[in-house]
Amino acid sequence: MRLTETADSWWKNAVVYCLDIETYFDTDGDGRGDIRGLSQRIDHLAELGVTCLWLMPFYPTPDRDDGYDITDFYDVDPRLGTHGDLVELITLAQDRGMRVIADLVVNHTSDQHPWFQSARASRESPYRDWYVWRDQPPEDATEGIVFPDQETSLWQYDEQAGQYYLHQFYKHQPDLDITNPEVREEIIRVIGFWLQLGISGFRVDAVPFLLDTLGAADPDSLADPHDYLRDLRAFMNRRSGQAVLLGEVNLPYKETREFFGDEDGDELTMCFDFIGMQKMYLSLARQDPAELVKALRERPAPPEEAQWGTFVRNHDELTLDKLTDDERAEVFAAFGPDKDMQLYDRGLRRRLPPMLDNDPARLRMVYSLLFSLPGTPVLFYGEEIGMGENLAMEGRNAVRTPMQWTDSVNGGFSTADAADLAGQVVTGDLSPEHVNVVAQRRDPDSLLNWIKLLIQRYRETPELSWGDCTVLEHESATVLAHRSEYEGGCVVTAHNFASDSATVTLAVAGSGVGVRAVDLLQPGTTEVAEDGTVQLELEPHGSRWLRVVHPGDRYLL
Ligand code: NOJ
Repeated sequence: MRLTETADSWWKNAVVYCLDIETYFDTDGDGRGDIRGLSQRIDHLAELGVTCLWLMPFYPTPDRDDGYDITDFYDVDPRLGTHGDLVELITLAQDRGMRVIADLVVNHTSDQHPWFQSARASRESPYRDWYVWRDQPPEDATEGIVFPDQETSLWQYDEQAGQYYLHQFYKHQPDLDITNPEVREEIIRVIGFWLQLGISGFRVDAVPFLLDTLGAADPDSLADPHDYLRDLRAFMNRRSGQAVLLGEVNLPYKETREFFGDEDGDELTMCFDFIGMQKMYLSLARQDPAELVKALRERPAPPEEAQWGTFVRNHDELTLDKLTDDERAEVFAAFGPDKDMQLYDRGLRRRLPPMLDNDPARLRMVYSLLFSLPGTPVLFYGEEIGMGENLAMEGRNAVRTPMQWTDSVNGGFSTADAADLAGQVVTGDLSPEHVNVVAQRRDPDSLLNWIKLLIQRYRETPELSWGDCTVLEHESATVLAHRSEYEGGCVVTAHNFASDSATVTLAVAGSGVGVRAVDLLQPGTTEVAEDGTVQLELEPHGSRWLRVVHPGDRYLL
């Protein structure tokens, strides 16, 4: 193994865990989670095997978009804690081999941000040109609205300013104008500030929107907006060689590829694989992996110094916007038939377990896929215990409920009155009484322990994250099998999407006397036949990971 390289490119086989401090663990009893609370729960994450914490926005905010509406890019919301608390958290995380990355939300500010307040007050304000203004909205002002339930235009008239301003998201989130060099420099300063406090990079919010120079006063001053992304990356890595940019880019593969930069990868370090995620749900709905296989084959290889970020769920609606209308209807029918489960006609405000009727076999299979397919897996808090959603909460908040630690009041999240909590706890079959960390720690068959095992195996199997992946041909239409090879090592995994058992014959790399395929998730060894194949039995929704072992190999198995 090229040990130096694997240590430097730590993000290639990281386990990223996203959480909102506000809903994680409350120590002062005000109903809102806090940084100290997260620090107290850091060993849960270390034990799980998390290597990188992604903190959702913790900056001061009027909280009209769950913190994605920021009034000060340099501060910590006092309701969550202080800079001191954050530095302690980062130090505690580092002590456990965990890095911390932060959400970087610089496409827009809150309309309460002092920059916007100043900008709207006068045309002479030094901040006026930090935003995008027009006397009249352009003709295409209604194209590309992100939140169609709330907004009717991308342009909002501001009485005080006497002009319209651009907002690609909610109207309370005016877009910054990155063609203005002062704005670009300020964003760079923000990055420098958090790096200095010990942050190891950023999840970059809404990257295509950030680079879009729509309506800009002087678009020529930034002829190629990707130059700016290159500048950000170069600056960040000059300051901190290990820091990463994990970008939110939900575009078709070909366009997403452009955000990795040139063949050396000089823009985003990682891009989320939104297409693969959507195709996975379609495949699950059909009990047939063909669409996911197609996506894997079409997915552009990232540059050497880049990686895809893979995920099952995140804090937003499960977007299905890249499926056809018919495909989306199929997924809706399978996983979110009620109108109340659907959002913006393009997604589902649900978590995975209730979509899969909380079927342990299917849940285990999906997470086994997540950790075995190429890419860096990103978990959303609560996935490790199979938390559900609370549809009584508005919109996307359904999946942002308090973390379920115990079976006691408020799931052990807070001692405050239920009415004062940052989110309403899940009720029904997946309430804390039935789904919580404490119970699952003690249950060897729990989802928590399954995910711990997957993470342990994933971390000790460099073939999965560093190797070349080949989707294998075989006789079953319901099984996705792939082979990962790296520096002479070979691992084969197989996942059965159907509720019937299946048998597959798979070509492993290597044959000869005494070559075996050793199961990594369960006890067992299969002989590799002389023609270099193994025959595998898969239970309904079963998954197998096998390492090919030659006589004399020195694996710790
Ligand atoms: C993407 C974030 O994931 C979402 O939650 C937010 O509303 C928008 N960007 C705007 O910041």
